[in-house]
Amino acid sequence: MSTELEITKPLRKITDPSDIPRFAALVAAAFSQDALNRYLFLGRESNPEHPKIETLEFRTKYWETIVRPRFESGAILVESHDWAAIGLWFPPGVEKKPTPASTLSEGVTEYLTFFKALREEKLGARPHWHLNIISRDPKRTDKGAVSAIFEPFLAEAKANNIPVWLESTNAHAKGVYEFFGFKVVGSTRIGKGIVGSDGWAKEGGEGVETWGMIAGLDGW
Ligand SMILES: CC(C)(COP(=O)(O)OP(=O)(O)OC[C@H]1O[C@@H](n2cnc3c(N)ncnc32)[C@H](O)[C@@H]1OP(=O)(O)O)[C@@H](O)C(=O)NCCC(=O)NCCS
Repeated sequence: MSTELEITKPLRKITDPSDIPRFAALVAAAFSQDALNRYLFLGRESNPEHPKIETLEFRTKYWETIVRPRFESGAILVESHDWAAIGLWFPPGVEKKPTPASTLSEGVTEYLTFFKALREEKLGARPHWHLNIISRDPKRTDKGAVSAIFEPFLAEAKANNIPVWLESTNAHAKGVYEFFGFKVVGSTRIGKGIVGSDGWAKEGGEGVETWGMIAGLDGW
């Protein structure tokens, strides 16, 4: 049965661009311990004393520059339980605008190249939903806040037999995604030889493990 996406309380669609800084601040706080994002953000200078990671304000600005163009290009931004968690979804057919290759760091280039090829291999031109960002406010433990970010989108995808793609940058998130029905379709280590599994610079380091995951690939 075909359905339309229905976003209702405790989930709310963000329509006012003045909410983007709050959205970005939540992402910055949630990702402060994420190994992959340390490397993507700081490159070969990734270390725990780096001044750029000490200030939440700086990291919030960084996430704003990522989130705003996605909002403007048609991504759906949601918050649940009055900002306990947020999500950024690309509906089928909506993609983020490509960033000029010359402005990308080597880590970001490696990441984008790997997942673009994997997504094309597994989904080709097949329309799909894409959960691009999900975060829980580290200070909030509200039950149901994270489920709310998934539920209406998974229900819509299921009703229309559309697969859902995401990339998992850490093992904890991967476990949560598996709980919601996602299966690993490929994995890699980003920054091999440059950073350790914790994302801090380390000569000969093993890199940070990441996974491509899909729900509903072979039907729901
Ligand atoms: C990824 C992230 C959003 C997951 O949220 P979380 O609070 O750590 O996840 P939880 O363990 O509470 O699980 C989320 C929900 O799934 C349910 N769940 C997950 N795994 C489960 C399991 N094995 N059994 C039962 N329930 C499970 C939980 O009950 C919870 O339900 P709720 O939303 O109703 O409270 C959060 O860890 C985060 O913001 N991390 C930092 C940023 C990040 O890594 N983002 C993703 C990068 S790919």
